[in-house]
Amino acid sequence: MKHLLSEKDLSPEEIKQVLTAATDIKKNPEKYKNAAFEKVLLTIFEAPSLRTRLSFDSAMIQMGGDSINYQTMFSPWGVGKESIEDTARTISRYVNLVMIRMHDHEEVVRFAQNASVPVINGLTNYSHPCQLLGDLLTIQEKKGKLQGLKLAYFGDGNNNVTHSLMMGCTKMGMHVSIACPKGRDYEPLPDVVQEANTWAKKTKGSLTITQDSEEAIKNADIVYTDSWMSYHVPKAQLKKRVEIFKPYQVTEKLFAKAPNALFMHCLPALRGHEVTAEVIDSKRSIIFDQAENRLHAQKAIILKVLK
Ligand code: CP
Repeated sequence: MKHLLSEKDLSPEEIKQVLTAATDIKKNPEKYKNAAFEKVLLTIFEAPSLRTRLSFDSAMIQMGGDSINYQTMFSPWGVGKESIEDTARTISRYVNLVMIRMHDHEEVVRFAQNASVPVINGLTNYSHPCQLLGDLLTIQEKKGKLQGLKLAYFGDGNNNVTHSLMMGCTKMGMHVSIACPKGRDYEPLPDVVQEANTWAKKTKGSLTITQDSEEAIKNADIVYTDSWMSYHVPKAQLKKRVEIFKPYQVTEKLFAKAPNALFMHCLPALRGHEVTAEVIDSKRSIIFDQAENRLHAQKAIILKVLK
């Protein structure tokens, strides 16, 4: 794994390796305090971030390395004065690895094709593999396994986190049920559906896409939702999207139909939109353990790509 651009770069075996490493790193942080000694990570952001930015910075500092943060709006590339190819080639002369958050997934792919150091996708409009690995670590910790569990997702199906969960969870033999509105703008992308179905067949998992939240939540072990207004969605669409997604809100009434399920959200969350305060602040919500696990999973990712 030279780069981590999407779940397509990860075999089920590699996912298990990252989760095993992350579990050990979390239990024994002292053992890894020099694991990235003298290594420099560049983090590039086109969109805002709390968790991804700070967990990558902390991961490098805690493992004896360092990180530099760069906003694309301050780069010649960001203002149209330099090609993405020249930018990637230049950056590769200064740092040991790059984490990049850009709206356009294809730009990240082009960046990686021209970089001679490992590149990690820190979220694009297509996928969010770092979130997926932190989430799998959290589910494994809380439920003791991944194989055979059911994850039910509610809301925006055409969403980076949804795509990552579909591809990553089916690779681990999980059953994934997506409840989302009908329509090209709201349903998962066809290539993601195909990838997830292919893996589900191999691993005895499954993928269901439905417009019926009550069907999706049956026997769920994990209930998951994400923002209805991803970073790349224009603010002008807020009113329309609230109306369209409202039937998929995770409410107490819906959550009660899966009494053994835990609630997850990649954050940031808007209470009263994709989830009610009663659910996200309930005893069955594990959102802050989930946020913490971004740190441990990312340390494992950093060490894997540096090797
Ligand atoms: N979940 C996530 O990636 O959070 P940030 O946007 O704050 O990094």
